Amino acid sequence: PHALSTRQYLTDLSTSLFSFVLPLLPTAEELATKEEVRVLIERLIKTIEPSSRLASFGSSCNSFGLRNSDMDLVCLIDNKEAALHASDLVAMIGDLLERETNFEVKPLPKARIPIIKLTLQPSPGLPYGIACDIGFENRLALENTRLLLTYATIDPARIRTLVLFLKVWSKRRKINSPYKGTLSSYGYTLMVIFYLVHVKNPPVLPNLQRIAPLRPMTKEEMTLEGRDVWFFDDTETLRKEWSSANFESVGELLIDFFRYFSHDFQYNNTVISIRAGHLTKESKGWMNDIDVGGLNENARDRNRLCIEDPFETPYNVARTVTKDGLYTIRGEFMRATRILTARPERAVLALAELCI
Ligand code: GTP
Ligand code: MG
Repeated sequence: PHALSTRQYLTDLSTSLFSFVLPLLPTAEELATKEEVRVLIERLIKTIEPSSRLASFGSSCNSFGLRNSDMDLVCLIDNKEAALHASDLVAMIGDLLERETNFEVKPLPKARIPIIKLTLQPSPGLPYGIACDIGFENRLALENTRLLLTYATIDPARIRTLVLFLKVWSKRRKINSPYKGTLSSYGYTLMVIFYLVHVKNPPVLPNLQRIAPLRPMTKEEMTLEGRDVWFFDDTETLRKEWSSANFESVGELLIDFFRYFSHDFQYNNTVISIRAGHLTKESKGWMNDIDVGGLNENARDRNRLCIEDPFETPYNVARTVTKDGLYTIRGEFMRATRILTARPERAVLALAELCI
């Protein structure tokens, strides 16, 4: 009877996860409005630099978008002769958008990565308004967006549900704030993919960056800004030729994800890499116990949690996570494990308690 009730609970939990996530997805109307906004801004930017395009990236097109999430846009300039610097362009486009649109415009031309922040205040037709960041020439962001989307396409029912739930949960538990010492949505998403590719045995997902290329490509076609950005992106072939031998339900995977990152993962010396699996901090030069002496106190916090970007490999996506932040995140993983394994009468109650 015990085994049966475990199975029943896991089935109930999986069904509850689907129902939990479904109403949080963006509506078709919201997506259409955002696309209109992109087209409008693109048209304005083209009056300054005709060879520019405005592309979406991040959650509005990696299939991990939630209702009312921010828009991430990037301005790409195809004309290599265009003489304008990103910082000049930010200032000029900022002025133009201020004159020609209802957006509140905040250009940040001096930031390490120049961006323009746009906000549209809520209105009856758009009850949550729109928040949008426009970056410049960040082509790697488009590639990692495409990589995440391709992973999602392989097994949408399990992957999207897991990632979307973790995003909602981490926001509600206030551990999704890179500016306050915790981790970005992008970081949590990479943790889920790492777990499905490299921790689960048999794996739920293949490693798209290591599948032998079927079509040989020239080196130039595979690199972008000096990075190897190749991955297997032929979803048609993947659907036909790859199937996972792992049949765990999404509820089971979620519990085990929390358990793994509560107790089993070696935070002290391991780097999470979806490209290469478990790496040592030492091999990346990402130790956090180096003697920083009188240097910036925060430097010691830089590599507490280590998540290698899939393409920008020298870059730790979790560099924002402080010692306290990691302590809080792990505490939340433990709390989640406890709540989900306590097996209340109905799984939906566990999810509600988890996200309070
Ligand atoms: P929400 O905005 O919370 O809905 O999630 P999101 O999926 O848009 O994630 P997030 O805002 O964290 O990141 C948006 C995109 O920016 C990601 O898909 C990446 O392409 C890029 N990005 C975010 N953080 C990093 C980072 O630390 N390094 C790199 N290279 N890219 C990042
Ligand atoms: Mg975003």
